Amino acid sequence: MSLISPWRADFPALDALERQGQTYLDSAATAQKPQALIDALAHYYGNGAANVHRAQHLPGAMATQAFEDTRHKVADWLNTGSSGHIVFTHGATSAFNLLAYGLEHLFEAGDEIVISALEHHANLLPWQQLAKRRDLKLVILPLTREGVIDLSAATSLINPRTRLLAVSQLSNVLGTWQPVSELMTMARAHNALTVIDGAQGVVHGRHDVQALGCDFYVFSSHKLYGPDGVGVLFGRHQALAHLQHWQFGGEMVLQAGYQDATFRPAPLGFEAGTPPVSGVIGLGATLDYLNDVNQVAAAEHEARLHELLCAGLRLREGVRLVGAPQVALASFVVDGVHNADLAHLLTEQGIAVRAGHHCAIPLISSLGLSGAIRVSLALYNDSEDLERFFNALDQALELLR
Ligand SMILES: Cc1ncc(COP(=O)(O)O)c(C=O)c1O
Repeated sequence: MSLISPWRADFPALDALERQGQTYLDSAATAQKPQALIDALAHYYGNGAANVHRAQHLPGAMATQAFEDTRHKVADWLNTGSSGHIVFTHGATSAFNLLAYGLEHLFEAGDEIVISALEHHANLLPWQQLAKRRDLKLVILPLTREGVIDLSAATSLINPRTRLLAVSQLSNVLGTWQPVSELMTMARAHNALTVIDGAQGVVHGRHDVQALGCDFYVFSSHKLYGPDGVGVLFGRHQALAHLQHWQFGGEMVLQAGYQDATFRPAPLGFEAGTPPVSGVIGLGATLDYLNDVNQVAAAEHEARLHELLCAGLRLREGVRLVGAPQVALASFVVDGVHNADLAHLLTEQGIAVRAGHHCAIPLISSLGLSGAIRVSLALYNDSEDLERFFNALDQALELLR
């Protein structure tokens, strides 16, 4: 079956990579960028860069306008309504660190923070270190055999001692959607704060943070076809009110003296220093582009590609899928073959996939693995990309076995 992406031509890097003999199947790590974004960055830098929220001059006003327009576009993308604010950070990782430091004052020794067994280090280590600083208990929700957070275990592990729940919407290793709405409901019943790691989920389909019922939702622009160096933290008004200022510097200040200062509320109070101006403006252009993409058609295209990917992997002797991937990516291991050796041979044949622990060492170890190869898809991939991958895989396996 031949599947052609109607959006491929919008991403010039795909052709450039092809000319270099590269097949890009690592979009879960970072996505290629649409021409609309490249044009927006060229326009911004070509017509006058400026800092935001401080200068009186025209370039400053224009940059501030474009920057704030993006805040509205992100709010629309997540359907925040008037429920909260969008804070720009330097990535999903910085957003989690902002949360872990900004909420630290709420915790008392013995309180519990609940995460799951499949979390990326970005949504594990900030909480783990907070737990160590404040003598808290980090509770780990177990997974079902399919790689989904086990809701029946969650009903007892989320309890009156739970002060905060932080879980991933879509696993970056297993490709499984997580039952985040159900988990949010459980946590809310105990008045716990809730955080969703949307780093992978936000890329696939539209998500409504009001319907999800979370206090905070985090993602990185670069996985959503936007620039790197930009993260998004959505926070509900009541939840943001708990957040203490964490990073201090320019433009987050209301009044400053030598001995004391007062600070702005969200969002600007949490955007200390010069924010990633070009990146945020680029994210705005990316969202304009994505708003013109038929999301239903894109999801169907990705689903068909994903089926081809999983079916092709299942067909091959000795190849074992890790978990039961549902969307966009599949991780696998091969009996008797080290993932690093296989990755090396795939790389030599121009196949750009990710190998190793995928920044989720505890998950990979708990599955009894030293690593896995992950193939990840985006709306610009074609079935030809998969054909090239499978040809390279077959050749590599022939050499290794
Ligand atoms: C599920 C998940 N959460 C968080 C992150 C961290 O994102 P970033 O490195 O952009 O901060 C990633 C990145 O791979 C991820 O896949």
